[in-house]
Amino acid sequence: MKYITVLVSGSGTNLQRIIDCIENGDIPNAAVNLVVADRECFGLQRAENHGIKNILIKRGKDFSENLGKIIPENTDLIVLAGFLSILNKDFCDNFRGKIINIHPALLPKFGGKGMWGHHVHNAVLASGEKESGATVHFVTSGIDEGEIILQKSFEISETETLESLSEKIHKIEYEIFPEAVNLVLNRV
Ligand code: GRF
Repeated sequence: MKYITVLVSGSGTNLQRIIDCIENGDIPNAAVNLVVADRECFGLQRAENHGIKNILIKRGKDFSENLGKIIPENTDLIVLAGFLSILNKDFCDNFRGKIINIHPALLPKFGGKGMWGHHVHNAVLASGEKESGATVHFVTSGIDEGEIILQKSFEISETETLESLSEKIHKIEYEIFPEAVNLVLNRV
């Protein structure tokens, strides 16, 4: 059995997708051992709904250190599923190769500090790019810079809006995130 600790800051639909894939066998022999949020959010409720241990650690300068203290011993993989705090270098180095993140664009484009959620989508739309997509990558101390595990793209339509882009990207995320979790769990 492999154990996944999930970090969230928001509504947690990607967390839900991972929980559902574990429950329906698409992510086999795995369990979420803990969900950690850095702020009040619906992700905590989703964990609670499935009887998964969950904890809120207030965001701030000691966040990574506090998180480091409560990551369960048996954790094989740490999954950032819409998580907004930046993990410090010590934390990233300690868990090197064991932390993955999902990003709502085709990295290395549209990544880095401040590039999250609607900021990413607005930047993509303003850029005139022909395509967008989602990326699952390893987390290192360089924001959005770790090795890419999986990426999937689609063509941006002429009538694309912030909402339509966000919806299409979420759909892609629900496909590639469980796939990436399986890939990495088979290596750790
Ligand atoms: C996703 O678009 C993900 O790429 C980004 O944050 C969003 C989280 O959405 N990192 P949700 O909370 O899983 O619905």
